[in-house]
Formats: sequence, structure tokens, C-alpha cells
Amino acid sequence: MPIKTIEYKNGKLKIIDQRKLPCKLVYRNLSSVNDIKGAIKTLAVRGAPAIGVAAAYGVYIGIDNLRIKGKKIFFRKLNVLIRHIETARPTAINLFWALERMRKVAVKNREKPISAIKRLLFNEAGKIQREDEIMCEKIGRFGARLINDKDRILTHCNAGALATAGSGTALSAIYAAKKQGKKIKVYADETRPLLQGARLTTWELMREGIDVTLICDSMAATLMKKAMIDKIIVGADRIAANGDFANKIGTYNLALLSMVHKIPFYCFAPSSSFDFSIKNGESIPIEQRDPDEVRKIKDFFCAPKKVKVYNPAFDVTPHELVTAFITEKGVFRKPYMRSLKSLKGSKS
Ligand code: MRU
Repeated sequence: MPIKTIEYKNGKLKIIDQRKLPCKLVYRNLSSVNDIKGAIKTLAVRGAPAIGVAAAYGVYIGIDNLRIKGKKIFFRKLNVLIRHIETARPTAINLFWALERMRKVAVKNREKPISAIKRLLFNEAGKIQREDEIMCEKIGRFGARLINDKDRILTHCNAGALATAGSGTALSAIYAAKKQGKKIKVYADETRPLLQGARLTTWELMREGIDVTLICDSMAATLMKKAMIDKIIVGADRIAANGDFANKIGTYNLALLSMVHKIPFYCFAPSSSFDFSIKNGESIPIEQRDPDEVRKIKDFFCAPKKVKVYNPAFDVTPHELVTAFITEKGVFRKPYMRSLKSLKGSKS
């Protein structure tokens, strides 16, 4: 059973502090909106779906902590809270999608007493969490159909249980395939600069008894050239209407390599990661992060302290390079402009 990354318990949001992995499994209980926003910003909680779930609870906890009498002030405070959480990270659409769901529930029930609106906000956050769990299960089941016995699979960053409220997106397919008795070998890119692959994916997969081998990002081409990889699987932070998608920096490199080496390249994501308001990947906002993340590995400088750094946290993979998208609604193939359209209406 994949590890539980995020849950609401006794008025607090209990998360695994992913900054501490793999050295220590530390849980943190977040009891304020600032705690939750801080956890998202610093990647204590990370991965697009988990960010969405955390943000939803952030709205509830934030508003529940306030003692407000008038409706007008309640809605003003709610908007301020939502705008506050929105600025935590810009790329994963799940953050904005979850916040919008929370806002809509409150607005739709504006005639009800404040206590009732608070209860509805709590219920909505729980719904977002449970839906994510179910979406992960379904994605896993669809994904497992694409995985053969003895496949050697390369993955990037962490698109597992640690990135969601359930069993993960890309890694959920590995878990489902394992349940079917398939023997799979996974190669995990270390994923510089923050090493989500090395720290999180290897830890998570080893815990689940999956055969995993860690490689440096720069080794992927060599493995492909040596015919050591059958499939590449990744997650997504935001997918545009045409199928261009943002994911952890380095994903685009793998997509390009997959084309040269003729290896299927699959993107796994729940419908909450699609952004049909943007036509293509050019409009996806890409987060720029602290230069010290590149200058340092953990607490040690591996570069001169004052060297200039360029640190985009995500890149955009053009849809042409994607063999298929695997979502909770099924497997979507080219032409994406047409096939993905059916997801548009079903997005809650
Ligand atoms: O910066 P992170 O660690 O939040 O980036 C996470 C990723 O890029 C994941 O691949 C993506 O969110 C999909 S998670 C199911």
C-alpha cells in the first residue's frame, strides 16, 4: 500500500515533510494557512495533485481559524486567503483549480450561515482529496495496460504517492502492473537540482518492493542508446489544450531522446492537471526558483557562492513528442487537439 502523503486530522493537515526524505520520515501537522502556503512553497508538500489538495485544506483551515461575524467580511477574507495561497507556486494548475473549486462552493452557498459555509468548504476539501485518490487508482489501471512484463522503465522527478493524495500518477501504473504479476525494472533520474528522483522516487519504489536503479540525469541518453529502456513515464504540472505540457525540468530532454531512440514516451496526469484555457505550452507560467538550489546540493556549495544561475523548475514538452496521455478517463492519443477535447467537459 503506497504511503499516505497528506491527510486531515484533528483540525490539522498532516503531511510528510518531503524535504527530509530519504534520511528521515518526518510528519508535520499544519494548523494555519501560512504553514500550508509555506509547505507548498518550500516543497515540503509537492507534486501537482498534492499541492491542490493542500491548497484546498489551506482555504478551509485559514477561514476556520478566523472568527468573523458579517458575511461581507467573510467573503472579503476568503478572497484574500485564496489570493494568498495562489502565490505559493505558479506552474501546477491543480493549485488554481482546487482554489477555484473552494471559492465556487462558498459563492454558490452565500445565502447560508457562515458556519454552514465553513462546513461546506471542509467537505469540498475532503472531496478533492478523495477524488484524487480515485483518479490515481484509475490512472494506474489504464497505465498498467501499457506496461509489459519485464519492461525497463525510465522515470523523472516523482510522480508517485508522494506527489498525490493517492498512489500516484505515473508510478501508480507501476504499482498496478506489479499487482498483475508483471516484473518491472525502473530507472529513476536523480532530477537535479532538488533531486526528487534520487530522494523520493527511489525511496518510494524501494518501500513498495519495486526494482529501482538510480541514474544521474546525464546518463539517460546512454541507457537509451544501449537499448536498456523500453518506456519513459512522467507526470505533468499543467497540460495545455493542444497537449504541450509542463513538468519537472529535464522532462523535455527525455522526450527529445525518446524520439531519437524510438522509445514510447507517456505522460500521466489527472484531468485536474489540464488547462483548457491555454492553447499551447508557450503560455504556461514557469516557476523560477532560488539560485542556491543549483549552487548547492543539500547544504553544501558545489559551485562558487556568487556564480550566476538560471533555475527554471519546469520545462515544456511539445505534444508531438508524447506517445499518449494517461488520465483517469482513459488513454488519449494524437491528434490531441481533437482527442483531449472530450476531457474538457468532464473536468470538475
Ligand atoms: O517541483 P515539484 O517536485 O513539485 O515537481 C513535481 C513534478 O514535476 C511532478 O512530475 C508533477 O507534479 C506530477 S506529480 C503527479
